[in-house]
This record gives sequence, C-alpha cells and structure tokens, in this order.
Amino acid sequence: MKVLISDNLGQEGVRIFQEEDGIDVDVKTGLSPDELKAIIGGYDALVIRSATKVTQDLLSAATSLKVVGRAGIGLDNVDIPAATKKGVVVMNTPGGNVVTTAEHAIAMMMALTRNIPQATASMKKGLWEKKKLQGREIMNKTLGVIGFGKIGSVVADRARGLKMRVIVFDPIVQPEIIEKSGYEWVPLEELYKQSDYISIHVPKGKATHGLINAGAFEQMKKGVMLINCARGGIIEEDALHAALTAGKVAGAALDVFSEEPPPADMPLLALDNVILTPHLGASTEEAQTNVAVAVANQIIEYLKYNNIINAVNVPAISGKLLEKLRPFLFLGDRMGSLLAQYSAGQLKEVQVEYRGDFSGLDMSPVTTAVIKGLLDVLIQDGVNSVNAPVIAKDMGVKISESSMTETLEYLNLVSATIVTTDMERTVSGTVFGKADARIVKIDNFRIEMVPQGHLALIHNMDEPGAIGSVGAVLGDHEVNISRMQVGMEEGGKNNIILIRTDTRIPEEVAAKIGDLPKVNSIRTFEL
Ligand code: 3PG
Repeated sequence: MKVLISDNLGQEGVRIFQEEDGIDVDVKTGLSPDELKAIIGGYDALVIRSATKVTQDLLSAATSLKVVGRAGIGLDNVDIPAATKKGVVVMNTPGGNVVTTAEHAIAMMMALTRNIPQATASMKKGLWEKKKLQGREIMNKTLGVIGFGKIGSVVADRARGLKMRVIVFDPIVQPEIIEKSGYEWVPLEELYKQSDYISIHVPKGKATHGLINAGAFEQMKKGVMLINCARGGIIEEDALHAALTAGKVAGAALDVFSEEPPPADMPLLALDNVILTPHLGASTEEAQTNVAVAVANQIIEYLKYNNIINAVNVPAISGKLLEKLRPFLFLGDRMGSLLAQYSAGQLKEVQVEYRGDFSGLDMSPVTTAVIKGLLDVLIQDGVNSVNAPVIAKDMGVKISESSMTETLEYLNLVSATIVTTDMERTVSGTVFGKADARIVKIDNFRIEMVPQGHLALIHNMDEPGAIGSVGAVLGDHEVNISRMQVGMEEGGKNNIILIRTDTRIPEEVAAKIGDLPKVNSIRTFEL
C-alpha cells in the first residue's frame, strides 16, 4: 500500500508509516496541483494539512486512492462530496491540536490588546514609543466566543481564568449545554452588542462563510477587537478593512485568510492595528506530533484492517462496535449480492428490516452493506461502503430502514426487500452465536445457507425423481455437490433445492438442468 504525504507532517507520523510492514511512504511537499495530479494515481492514501487542495479534478486522477487523512481539523480544502462519490474515506484528527489553537487565540488577543508586534517592530527600528503603544487590560472585559466546539470551549475556559466575562454563541450547541459549562449563552446580535473582544471558533461552511460582514460590524460595540484563528472567509476582509479604518473595530488579530498565503497587496496588511500570523494556530511541536501520530495510526488502521476512525463521510465503526457488526456486515453484503443476482428489472427501492435485540446498535452500516452488495453486482466497478449510498441515491433508489425488538423464530433477523420495475424479492438472514451468518429465507422458501461460494437455486416439482434428475446431470458433468438442501414453499406445492458445488456450474450445465421435465427453473449465484 502506498501513502503520499503532501504537506508538512510531524516526523513521528512519518516514522510510523516507515516502520509499518506493507506500507511504502513518500513525502513530497510543495507540489503544484498539476504535479500532484500527475502522481496521485499511484497512491492508496494521501496525508494532508491545509495546503493541499483535494479537488474533484485531483480525485479524478486518484484511481487507487482509498483514504485522505487530514493531520488537523479543518477540511475546507477537501471536496468531501466528490471524495464520497469516489468511495474515498476522508478523516481528520479532531483532538490533537485543540489546546494549541486555543492558546494561539488567547496569545493573539493578548498581543493585540498590548500592541506587542507593533512594539517589537518599532523597537527594532530604534524607536521608544511608550505613549503611542499604550494598550488595554482584558480583566473584566467581555469576550464573545462564536462557536463552542472543542477549541471555542477551551478559549472560553482560558479567558475565564484571565478574569474576563465570557459570553457564547454557537449555531448548533444548545444554550443549556453552554450554560451548564458556566457561560452565558447569548444570541449572536447580543454578542455583537456586548463584546469588547470577539474570537471566532466555527468551521467554515455555507452557514459561516461571510458571517462577519458589514451588517455584523454595524451591530458591534465601537472599539471591539476581533480574533480569527478559525478559517479565512468567515470574516469578510473588505468589510473588516472598512470597519478598522472607520474606527468601529479597534484591532484585528488574524491567523487565517480567505486566500492563503494572502496576496502581497491585501489591504489589511497595510493597517497598523492588524496583527497577523501565517496560519500558525496548530503549529506547536506538541500539536504536530499529536496530529501526525493520530493520522498515521488511523490511515494504517483503515488500509490494513478496514477500521474507520474519525471519518467525516462515513459512519465510524471500529473496535467493539465493529466486532459486533462484522458478521452482520458480511451477511448484509451477501444478501445484497444474492438479491441483485436473483432479480430482474431496474432497481427502485431497498427496504431493510431488523428484528430482534440489536442492543441499541446503529445498524445503518449494515443497510449500507446490503446496498453495496447489490451495487457490486449491478454496477460492478468502484463501489464501496463509502460511496454506495450516494450512488444508490443518484440512481433514484429509495432506501428505508426499520427495526423492531419483537422476534419470531430467530433471535435476530435481517430482511432485505428490493423492489424493481419487474418484481419484489425478499431475502432474510440471521447470525447464529457470535459470527455464524446464514441466509434463512428467500421469498417464501425457508432454507439455511452459508452465504458464500458457488450456489444454485432450483425450483422443482414436488415429485419423485425430481432431485435425482438434477444430481445426475451435475454428476455427468463432474460438478461435485458439497451441500444440498430441499425446502418447501410456504403454503405452496413447489420445492426449492439449494445446492452448493465445489466448482462453478457451467452455463450449459445449468441450461440442461433447467430443461429437465420436473425442474421449473434454475439460477446460479456466486457469493
Ligand atoms: C486545523 O484545521 O487543524 C488548523 O487550522 C491547522 O491547520 P494546519 O495543519 O494547516 O496548520
């Protein structure tokens, strides 16, 4: 498996890849988009920070890529929908640089309020500008924290230690959770009105792009100071420039920019009351080691053991949950495959029903496994558990999932029904013990089948000689039957014979069986 590291990654992470058996790692930083596109086809995994742009164009050339690992948090440089469609897992390391980034925001606030960068520059010019560089105390001032996620909550905690009054707005986190942590929740307009300092800690997305715009500045207290260590583009830079030059905003500390690095003629660079750092929020040795180690371990875990950790485009199933779900994932995939091979017409709908005690497990990965099993047969190329639901949705297939604890004959039962333009078909399966997956019903026929190998389903008349005639044809063609089971249609007159053979039944042999007088039909499957 080949891993490409295209941004600077902590040495510890590089070493983990280098020491892992079966992994070849290349470190190639500073590549242009075209250079990266030219080589990406040879890699199974790509490790990035915020510099590499994982665009649809790049992904179109990433023929072997299975995973993009972000050593850090922000993923606005990754086209996640395009990666999902391609079946590429996108994962980040959400915990590793939280404290470091929060500390940077606090450092920026202190530096801004005491003019430390300006004072340094002034002294280096041989000046002694005590009066001009007088600052402000932060004690008892109000800090408005926008975004109470991992980083925002640490900033709020540190600011409280500095004896600031902290007010918080978050677009998602419930006010009760913020208040339970001991902070005052306020609506955004109120935060603008009351804050002496505003620090931004929301991700960049549709809802937050341009959040701090001219209208927002209008609502702010005169003399407010702004700190942005989150993402460029959340503050509209032209509007900030106008607010700074008009004196509405007294200062801004910026670590992130709508374009990185920003153009040399960015107007904000010319203002004395703006202090800047080149996206240093996560740049400490501690944080870089944390995120590098985390991303390396996560990628190895996925490439080698299929365990998904911290993925943003596929439900995480790892550790104990994976252990419990693994036999159901296998069963679901095989049921999907069987349904696809045993149906005709255009797929319109998939319904998956879970019966029994699944102990509050999230069974959606099993539903995805059913869909993947179906699409593997119907589409054949490039389907995996990441992109299967997206592909099905794009095909217009309706997917539904239901569950009930009440059981009938089995402790657990997974039933998948597909509706096509021509038919409706249901397959049910169960897991005996810890890991014994069996298909137990196909439409109205009860069977008990290990869902693996070369199989044939024969519908025959319930008459003497029917089964013998099938065995004779297979014997004549040296196809050995390793297992045979005869089932009865519920409430009907027909039998179903399920045969497992050591080798695939050739088409012409299947056709001969289909022509036997007591055989109604035969279908062969490869599971
Ligand atoms: C992040 O999103 O993790 C931080 O912004 C750090 O970005 P970086 O890894 O490019 O320094």
